[in-house]
Amino acid sequence: MTEIGIAGAGRVAQALGRLLRERGEPVASVASRTPAHAAEAARFIGGIEVVSYEDLARRCPRVLIAVSDDALVDVAGRLAHSGMRNGAVLHTCGARGVAAVEELARAGVACGVLHPLQAVNSPQQGVAALPGAAFAISGEGEAAAWARQIVALLDGTPLHIQTGREALYHAAAVMASNYVVALIDASVELLRAAGVPEDEALRVIRPLVETNARNALTLTPERALTGPIERGDADTVALHLAAFRDAAPGTRELYCTLGLRVLDLARRRGLDKAYADRLERCLRNG
Ligand SMILES: NC(=O)c1ccc[n+]([C@@H]2O[C@H](COP(=O)([O-])OP(=O)(O)OC[C@H]3O[C@@H](n4cnc5c(N)ncnc54)[C@H](OP(=O)(O)O)[C@@H]3O)[C@@H](O)[C@H]2O)c1
Repeated sequence: MTEIGIAGAGRVAQALGRLLRERGEPVASVASRTPAHAAEAARFIGGIEVVSYEDLARRCPRVLIAVSDDALVDVAGRLAHSGMRNGAVLHTCGARGVAAVEELARAGVACGVLHPLQAVNSPQQGVAALPGAAFAISGEGEAAAWARQIVALLDGTPLHIQTGREALYHAAAVMASNYVVALIDASVELLRAAGVPEDEALRVIRPLVETNARNALTLTPERALTGPIERGDADTVALHLAAFRDAAPGTRELYCTLGLRVLDLARRRGLDKAYADRLERCLRNG
């Protein structure tokens, strides 16, 4: 079987390495910048060797690169300079297409992308969350076939993004992921200012967050919308804005920016123009 090498020792590298190995794939070696991290990744993935990037290029005809986005070009260059001339490489960066590893493509390696559309905040959580996720995949020949094979092994859904639109796709992923986390943080900040301790705040908003996420995802955002903007209650929005004195700088701005997006949804649902215009003035003037 064609040996697989993992480049990188972070959360995604460890989770994907372990999942592939558990499914019988010949994951053989890991290389990373920090030797201690590579050793930790080898232990987590199970029974694989720690090697240098140079040896990874020489020994493994298939390499999965899962390093920080900013290190991707450099790591691809190191593999190319170490003599990787054929086989296949996939990288896990969602914002960049195959062009990010073009040095390997120029050397004769089939290159592609395998970006999990899932949040991985630890190797263990990644092992639990990646099976069944969607994966943006692209690439040519052997790389494309390998990406499709990995998605099938993980019972995932393949997603094809137009070439050149990777950054838009990734911005969408970031908004559905990290921005949701930031919104929860802003809500907790306001609850703390209203006298609710953080752990209790997280507990009490959980049903609200989960219900709205479920409604938006199943009914569509337009049909899921409730609240003062949807009802046209401009006085309530004005009360909110007046109460923002104690909030961290930026929270009021965030409220107004997102409020305008909520207003768009309310207009699409048929909110009366006079109410909508009054709300818009409130939100634009902060
Ligand atoms: N985490 C997610 O939710 C997620 C989801 C989808 C896709 N991704 C993508 O997966 C890739 C890895 O993300 P991650 O979250 O797993 O990152 P991570 O846990 O922060 O790990 C990053 C890895 O990159 C290596 N690295 C950092 N700077 C480097 C450099 N200058 N030269 C060489 N190696 C360097 C680190 O090596 P050492 O530890 O050895 O120093 C580390 O192993 C990224 O492309 C990311 O966009 C992440």
